[in-house]
Amino acid sequence: MASSSSLLRLTLLAAAIAVAAAVVAGGADDGGNQREFDYFQLAMQWPGTYCRRTRHCCSSNACCRGSNAPAEFTIHGLWPDYNDGTWPACCSRSRFNEKEISTLVDALEKYWPSLSCGSSSTCHGGKGSFWAHEWEKHGTCSFPVLRDEYSYFLTALNVYFKYNVTKVLNDAGYLPSNTEKYPLGGIVSAIQNAFHVTPEIACSNGALEEIYLCFYKDFKPRECAVGSILLPDTSLLKSSCPKYVSLPAYVSPGQAKTEWIASSVPQIEVL
Ligand SMILES: *[C@@H]1O[C@H](CO)[C@@H](O)[C@H](O)[C@H]1NC(C)=O
Repeated sequence: MASSSSLLRLTLLAAAIAVAAAVVAGGADDGGNQREFDYFQLAMQWPGTYCRRTRHCCSSNACCRGSNAPAEFTIHGLWPDYNDGTWPACCSRSRFNEKEISTLVDALEKYWPSLSCGSSSTCHGGKGSFWAHEWEKHGTCSFPVLRDEYSYFLTALNVYFKYNVTKVLNDAGYLPSNTEKYPLGGIVSAIQNAFHVTPEIACSNGALEEIYLCFYKDFKPRECAVGSILLPDTSLLKSSCPKYVSLPAYVSPGQAKTEWIASSVPQIEVL
């Protein structure tokens, strides 16, 4: 018969393994036992690629704003990561509260909009807005560098303003187009030359979909960890880019069908 102390030890061991497994899986929902992150990753999405997937419209989807739809990279999230390529998630019981960021909402609508109609999973079994998802899953793990919801969103905006990848690509001649393809190496070099770090890039059907820039905790640029391209969002797991990628110009959802079926229609210039 096992003594009570060895039973206790077994129980503790099992609990420790469970916590470690949850942290390694990057999907932990344990309310705050994860170790501090190592660096930040700023994920930015290209609306021209995302909005091609729009099948129906709703007020929360910025793809549906017609000529006011975003025409530059927008923020996906600011993600705390570990150097081994994993990441913490859902690090506190703090729930998203839009009131805390009411002074930022106009800027967030513009630079950090949702590009779909669906709601996103939040940390405690619920569903919420894109911002709720990003704050609860990732933002809560940026402690102690960013201590609350307001500083999380404000800091992400400031970093995004400072490292304008849309401008870097435009200045290098990589303009949105529904016919051109651009060398991936050229896009990477343009960003390397501007910011002195290598971006990670994700594609979807040969089109550039996301750009990731990594930062030390003081927001100086650094290289991303190897393997960090295995991102929290499973849609990006098959994200490898071909040698030549497109940077699709925005096509409003109403026009999308005819635009993509008829190849000879005039192209829409967005920028
Ligand atoms: C980034 O640069 C583009 C092109 O110069 C400009 O239109 C845009 O306003 C800039 N974006 C931000 C967030 O500053």
